[in-house]
Amino acid sequence: MEQSVPIPIILDCDPGHDDAVAILLAVASPKIDLLAVTTCFGNCSIDDATRNALRILTLAGVTDVPVARGASDPLVASLELGNYVHGKSGLDGPTMPEPEFLPSKLSAVELIHQTLMDSPRPITMVVTGPMTNLAQLAMSHPEDLEKIAEVIFMGGSTERGNHTPSAEFNTYADPEALQEIIDSGLPIRMVGLNLTHQALAIPEVVERMTNMDHDIGKTCAEWMGFFGSSYRSVWSFDSPPVHDPCTVAALIDPSLIEWTRTFLAVELEGKWTRGETVTDIHNRLEHEPNADVAITLDAERYWDLVLEAIDSLGKARV
Ligand code: RIB
Ligand code: CA
Repeated sequence: MEQSVPIPIILDCDPGHDDAVAILLAVASPKIDLLAVTTCFGNCSIDDATRNALRILTLAGVTDVPVARGASDPLVASLELGNYVHGKSGLDGPTMPEPEFLPSKLSAVELIHQTLMDSPRPITMVVTGPMTNLAQLAMSHPEDLEKIAEVIFMGGSTERGNHTPSAEFNTYADPEALQEIIDSGLPIRMVGLNLTHQALAIPEVVERMTNMDHDIGKTCAEWMGFFGSSYRSVWSFDSPPVHDPCTVAALIDPSLIEWTRTFLAVELEGKWTRGETVTDIHNRLEHEPNADVAITLDAERYWDLVLEAIDSLGKARV
């Protein structure tokens, strides 16, 4: 069977424990060509997110993927951060290596723009933090949109929120940014909490990480330990949902997730519901569908994919 051509992606993220696993998955998979990592405020400040991205890639032994610092604040919303989940550094738990390379001199928007212009093929934008950087690109370089194959993002929910009762953190953090991308007409795939809450790092998963005979596996296990303690104390989860790698996994193995095409909107006005994603699964509003929304995850095969990627990276570093 012919080897499929790797999918070129830019990963825009706010690392963040689950973003960190998404970065490792993207780096490890031969089906992904990780062209750039761009950072955004979200789980922590932009400075911490950028430092964390450099540390994660250093841990993975990857110093040739450019990392560019992005937005420090939302488009118009007031800044709210997720340190209450990810800790003071945004990646609390294990000691991380100091970065072995510097961030790009370009901003996130400039690096995305340059990478899109230089690419012979359309690029998939994977967004696992607030949508701010991509929204700023859409506003400043609308001509770039035709070079974007699709946007697959972790955010929103077809059900309840997490940061607020109705809003998931990434969309709550910058709902105007998501609105900008919905308005752009770009192909959108939404991987919301309804999906990612099926991706729980249960004890058997963490044990498989712990039993890996290398630093990367043990670091991932310690990330899950910290992340799990936050999810227990804030939302009474027994095991933490590892949200962000679901986006990358969907690209690597499309059979892992079932989707439904629906009308997607984001609430900008609601006193109690600002940042909520409205997904008209049963077409009650009779608007034209504008997004594919993830519904069902094959969790067992998802974890097999993620753990195999972590193990392959770790063994290559030993
Ligand atoms: O609500 C979960 C999302 O918010 C994840 O992407 C997590 O990393 C945080 O950014
Ligand atoms: Ca994230």
